[in-house]
Amino acid sequence: TPGLPAQAQVNITHGSQKVTAVLPTGESVEILLYGATVISWKDKKGAEKLWLSEATKLDGSKAVRGGIPLVFPVFGPPPPNHATSKLPQHGFARTSRWEFLGKSTSESESSEGGADLSVKLDFGLSSASLDPQTKALWGYAFNLIYSVTLGTGSLTTSLVVTNDDERPFDLQVLLHTYFRIDDITAVTVKGLEGASYVDKVDAKKEKTQSAEVKFVGETDRVYTPVGGPSAPVEIVQGGKTVFSVVRDNLNDVVVWNPWSEKAAAMGDFAPKDGYKNMVCVEAGSVRGWQTLEPGDAFEGAQTITISG
Ligand code: BG6
Repeated sequence: TPGLPAQAQVNITHGSQKVTAVLPTGESVEILLYGATVISWKDKKGAEKLWLSEATKLDGSKAVRGGIPLVFPVFGPPPPNHATSKLPQHGFARTSRWEFLGKSTSESESSEGGADLSVKLDFGLSSASLDPQTKALWGYAFNLIYSVTLGTGSLTTSLVVTNDDERPFDLQVLLHTYFRIDDITAVTVKGLEGASYVDKVDAKKEKTQSAEVKFVGETDRVYTPVGGPSAPVEIVQGGKTVFSVVRDNLNDVVVWNPWSEKAAAMGDFAPKDGYKNMVCVEAGSVRGWQTLEPGDAFEGAQTITISG
């Protein structure tokens, strides 16, 4: 409505368990404070863009199966004899309760000449607010700020890690996005051609991607795309790009689909044929470690754009 401040047109709900934002266009995002997990992202038509298991826990008893879980400070099972060794798979960010720090809105000129509104929601987690059990597993002083920005046709998630300790620490970060798709057999992932990757379903062999990625069975790979973070990685369905992911300071991309057997073995994965409707394309820094010196900060982000 002309004359009204922009803020009045973004609807924010902050409950005890989650934060929801709705833009005037009808686009929306929902973030669970548990894990700061994005559990829903809908487009203007109300169509859900993320896959969320029907059997996932949302009560804080287990990491969310679906949406965008945040992996920090270790990806996968932690290595032995490392500072992260005592942590569970994928670390503690996705299983900790975060604090909602607030929102900010901004306006930009839309392609049609009007104004596009976007809203940024900030979440925080620090060593001071970490539960004592987790602190005993990884004792560094740190601060995390996670920002989720909903725009017209896009979603940006960005993480800033600050080392508040007197010692350096090693970290890995991953934005574990579960994209909702219609049919995995009609999907390809483009933008990884020529990239070296670690094939986790083939004895961690190092391979080179020759063409677009196709899915014919369980897929679990860690790519380092040749074009760097700013070259888009696209999810193509039936020949049409449905999602495009651009990264900032995150050099790696994990591509994961559990397929039928692994899906059947996961108690929180439903429906069992749901693997046909999801693909994880995960922006991260996971092939090796980032060492963060005392007082230093690491920032990594992804922007997902939808087409159509
Ligand atoms: C992916 C890993 O990122 O996450 C897979 O590459 C893993 O190996 C998958 O199976 C799911 O992990 P989790 O801990 O959520 O079951």
